[in-house]
Amino acid sequence: MGERPQWDGDTLAALRSQFPVLQQKINGHDLVYLDNAATTHMPTAVLAAMQHFEAHNRANIHRGVHTLSQRATDDFDAARLTLKRFVGADAPDCELVFTSGTTDALNMVAHGLSTPCEQAAYLQPGDEIIASTLEHHANLVVWQQAARRTGAVLRILQPDAEGRLHTADLQKLLNGKTRVFTVTACANATGERPPYEELLQLAHNAGALTVLDAAQAVSHETLRFAALNADFMAFSGHKMYGPMGTGALVGRRKALARLTPLRFGGDMVESVSAHDARFAELPMRLEGGTPNVPGAVGMAAAAQFLTKQGLPAVDAHVRALREQAVQALSGIKGLRVLALHAQASAIAAFVTTDVHPHDIGTLLDARGIAVRTGHHCAQPLIDHFGVGATTRASFAMYNTPEEVERLAAGVAHALEKLR
Ligand code: ALA
Repeated sequence: MGERPQWDGDTLAALRSQFPVLQQKINGHDLVYLDNAATTHMPTAVLAAMQHFEAHNRANIHRGVHTLSQRATDDFDAARLTLKRFVGADAPDCELVFTSGTTDALNMVAHGLSTPCEQAAYLQPGDEIIASTLEHHANLVVWQQAARRTGAVLRILQPDAEGRLHTADLQKLLNGKTRVFTVTACANATGERPPYEELLQLAHNAGALTVLDAAQAVSHETLRFAALNADFMAFSGHKMYGPMGTGALVGRRKALARLTPLRFGGDMVESVSAHDARFAELPMRLEGGTPNVPGAVGMAAAAQFLTKQGLPAVDAHVRALREQAVQALSGIKGLRVLALHAQASAIAAFVTTDVHPHDIGTLLDARGIAVRTGHHCAQPLIDHFGVGATTRASFAMYNTPEEVERLAAGVAHALEKLR
């Protein structure tokens, strides 16, 4: 067995009691929820913050002189500040834009750099964009589309056979035409944690705008955006114990100001005439329409909840669970864990030679164990490994070593039945 989580049983039990969803049986068994890379659950503190907003302060922001509108505006502004602090983006040259999630944030960047508005599009024919094979489709397809729109060229940073990215390989791709480099902080399909600090720095030094997809890192890794050589960073609320349909795009103000807004309309304008409009300053410029204020409030409450638990402790806990799972699963005959070496993550994905992941996932569900099976919106990476669909277990602060044992026993049982 690998290193055991540092939280003891009582601490974990107290933590778990704050998550209502976990207090149920599925198919007659205590729920073991291991699909956290897709969506984490919300503690009562987050639910209470959202309930308080809805019950006391709900109104539209920015448009009213009345008390509720002012309270809602204050709540929205406070949520923004909390989240900026949480990801280290509270420096004066940084800003945070609320989005509906990471996908929305990455669309905002790729569309914003490839569409003309007050000025020509940032990306021009012959320019080069570099994305890695590790990316979730949300950080790849948007760049395919940006390249098509502008005549730019999309180049791919390939991993090695185990799924690692190397700075030397990026160095070979960078040149005077590189205008954008985008990379994940943690591959959602394998748990690989690339050396993104170094990769971003190389691309930044080459003169590219740089993008970090932090969706799988934000729930456990301490992020300090201002200290990175990143121009943009995207993450989701629902993967950090906050509500679904929430997220953020963090950026350098100068880089954010280059983005053509994805949504035009109310709240993002300074003045409008019948045939023209001037746009508002950041962050409102990129936040057209009524925002998800309770979502922002919930997301900020989730950041406070994480801070209260201590991100380094959460990180140590989920890494230890991953390590325990990898050790236990690797002992099962005919089973291969992808990116076995990837210790800095909360994700363990595996394949077997002879049993389909959907069948494994179905038998695990029959024992109350929730995992995800499929391509995990990362088909190029799965193709790189040449393995087809996989089974993925992903861990959160509320998971326990006993649950990992139940996972390993459940997989062994499923394989025995299905072989
Ligand atoms: N992006 C989410 C995942 O990896 C849905 O499962």
